[in-house]
Order: sequence, then C-alpha cells, then structure tokens
Amino acid sequence: MAPFKIVMVRHGESEWNEKNLFCGWFDANLSEKGKKEAESAGKALKDSGYKFDVAYTSVLTRAQNTLQAVLNEIGQTDLPVVKTWRLNERHYGGLTGLNKAETAAKYGEEQVAIWRRSFDIPPPPMEPDHPYYDIIVKDPRYAEGPPQDQFPKFESLKLTIERTLPFWNETIVPQIKSGKSILIAAHGNSLRGIVKHLDQLSDEQIMKLNLPTGIPFVYTLDENLHPIKSLEFLGDPETVKKAVEAVAAQGKAK
Ligand code: 3PG
Repeated sequence: MAPFKIVMVRHGESEWNEKNLFCGWFDANLSEKGKKEAESAGKALKDSGYKFDVAYTSVLTRAQNTLQAVLNEIGQTDLPVVKTWRLNERHYGGLTGLNKAETAAKYGEEQVAIWRRSFDIPPPPMEPDHPYYDIIVKDPRYAEGPPQDQFPKFESLKLTIERTLPFWNETIVPQIKSGKSILIAAHGNSLRGIVKHLDQLSDEQIMKLNLPTGIPFVYTLDENLHPIKSLEFLGDPETVKKAVEAVAAQGKAK
C-alpha cells in the first residue's frame, strides 16, 4: 500500500497574525488576506488533483475556516472532518495578545526567538488575571478536553508535541496505514511538532523551522511512516521562501 501521502496546511493569515500578536489558543479569525490564502491553498490542491477521505483540524476557527475554504475549492464539502484541541496552536501563555515586535523590543529578539522556536522553553504562564484567561479557559469548545485540571496555561513546543502526538499515533496513523488520503489543517507549531516527529529533527534543527500560512505541504511516507519526501510545498519556491522569511521576521523588533 505504501508509499503513503499526507497533506498538511497551516491556516491562512489570522487577524492576530496581521497585527503581529501572539495568538496561541485565542480564537482569532482569518484576515481577508488569510481567507484568500485559504482559497489559494484549495486551488493548489485542486490543480494537483488531490482528493481526501478524511480531514483533521483544531477547535480553533482560523484552522477550521481554512479547511472549509480548501474543501470548497476541491469540491469535497461533505468530507468527514475531525476537530480536536490536540491540533490547536501552541498555547502562548502570558504572551497571548502581546505584539511580537514590541515584545522583542522590550525583552530582546533572542528571548522572543527562544519563546517562539525553542523546543522545551515555555513562554510565561497565562495567570487567571490575564485579559484572555476566562475567554479561553471557559470556552465551551473545550468541554471535550483538555480536562480543567490539565488545561494549559502555557506550552513549549515539547508540551505541544506531548498532546499532539497521541492523536497522531492513535487516530491519524491507523488511517494512513489503511490507505486513507488525509488532510490536516492546523497551526504553525502543532504542525512543527508533527514535522519534528516525522523527520526526527533535533531540538536544534526544529528551532530553524518556520511554516508559512496557507501553503499546503506534502509528506510521502514509506510503510513504516518514515519520510521518503519531506515538506514538499505546493507553491513556487520563491513565494514559499518569502512567506517563511516573513514568519521568522515577525519576532524582530521594529
Ligand atoms: C501565534 O499563535 O501567534 C501564531 O499563530 C504562531 O506564532 P509563531 O509563529 O510566533 O509561533
């Protein structure tokens, strides 16, 4: 049955990406540019002839709306979709809502790079008096989990992977191995965690990876789910390069 292919896409630009704010578990919607990116992602998949058997996404609107735009474009609006908090963006803790450039100016670009891209150094916690604490923790979309006593107040990439990987191994992997065509629409850091796992990237290597919004990428996997081809973007290389550089630059002081 191998090789297997799986398609993943980070959501289109969100309204908080547009304002360069740390977003994490805040439920920002897509910006107008992000809606167009999502449509373009769908067109790229349609032009490449992709069809799917099932899609997975997070419980956050920006990823779900990106997925819907893609499914509209490829004519699969009736596709089964599984939504899980385990594919959510990494929780940015106390940084949530802060401007990334202003935070770099205040704490230094190196510290922001560590908070954004390190493997096991988390951002500061989101305390109960944080302006976005209640709207996130009390959101009814989390009724199915995580349990209140395990609800994250911050996440490093390591902690993000620890809650994403069980879903990958227990739900997605069996579907891949049964030959299902899979699409995942998720977030920059939950997808970085899956990429780190698939390519067995070191903690140092993963620091260098930034994923662009709204450009699908394909993994071709062997029967043991080891990559034959990794991170094949459905976009022209120059466009992808510029989009990746723009994500990295979000953490620079103005
Ligand atoms: C956010 O949560 O702020 C973004 O969606 C991802 O942010 P990052 O690229 O700074 O990790």
